[in-house]
Amino acid sequence: MFVCICHAVNEKAIQQAVSEGAKNVRDVRRSLNVGSQCGQCVRQAHEVIEQAKSLISKTEFYAA
Ligand code: FES
Repeated sequence: MFVCICHAVNEKAIQQAVSEGAKNVRDVRRSLNVGSQCGQCVRQAHEVIEQAKSLISKTEFYAA
């Protein structure tokens, strides 16, 4: 599902950015331009980022 229509960015692209070190919307904006045009996607992008961070931290917890 697209999160940012203006830049055709989907959830998977954002999840990939988080797995590569993005920690917030600002980081994802730098790498994918999310939120840099109309801004309608910022809230949804934030939610996707937080979910991805949560999944990564759980994975690291269980891998340790
Ligand atoms: S939908 Fe993301 S900047 Fe417009």
